[in-house]
Amino acid sequence: MNIRFENKVALVTGAASGLGLATAKAFAEAGASVALADWNQKEVQAAANNLASKGYKTLAVLCDVSDDAQVEAMVKQTVTTFGRLDAAYNNAGIQNVLAETADSPRDDYDRVMAITDISYRQ
Ligand SMILES: NC(=O)c1ccc[n+]([C@@H]2O[C@H](COP(=O)([O-])OP(=O)(O)OC[C@H]3O[C@@H](n4cnc5c(N)ncnc54)[C@H](O)[C@@H]3O)[C@@H](O)[C@H]2O)c1
Repeated sequence: MNIRFENKVALVTGAASGLGLATAKAFAEAGASVALADWNQKEVQAAANNLASKGYKTLAVLCDVSDDAQVEAMVKQTVTTFGRLDAAYNNAGIQNVLAETADSPRDDYDRVMAITDISYRQ
């Protein structure tokens, strides 16, 4: 399947590494302008710069997706920069020590859910 994203804008959270970075690259190669968001500022800036050096339109956004205000600012910055937003890949997430839910320490469970929950709401 060959889907093109010319004149489209995509936003990827957790874009500094792993699946998010691979997806940001795929969106760019398919023609989209891409906002790469992550709470790791150094890595997400490097990822955006790397794609931009290949001729793609990118924006690095510092954002902790567990913070509603930062998520709002991320979307605003994307729309201000590129004029629109067509697709969002809500990928940011963390994985703690693998355990049955009932055996998870409360702090670990809350940390994972704070990020995952907002990924679903984005
Ligand atoms: N890789 C797998 O096998 C697998 C399996 C199931 C689910 N997942 C989920 O897929 C997603 C990506 O997985 P991955 O393997 O690429 O992980 P990864 O750890 O390589 O990348 C996750 C990225 O998200 C960023 N991030 C984490 N918390 C954030 C936050 N609060 N705000 C902004 N950025 C944040 C990290 O800095 C990192 O760049 C995650 O949500 C993960 O839980 C992955």
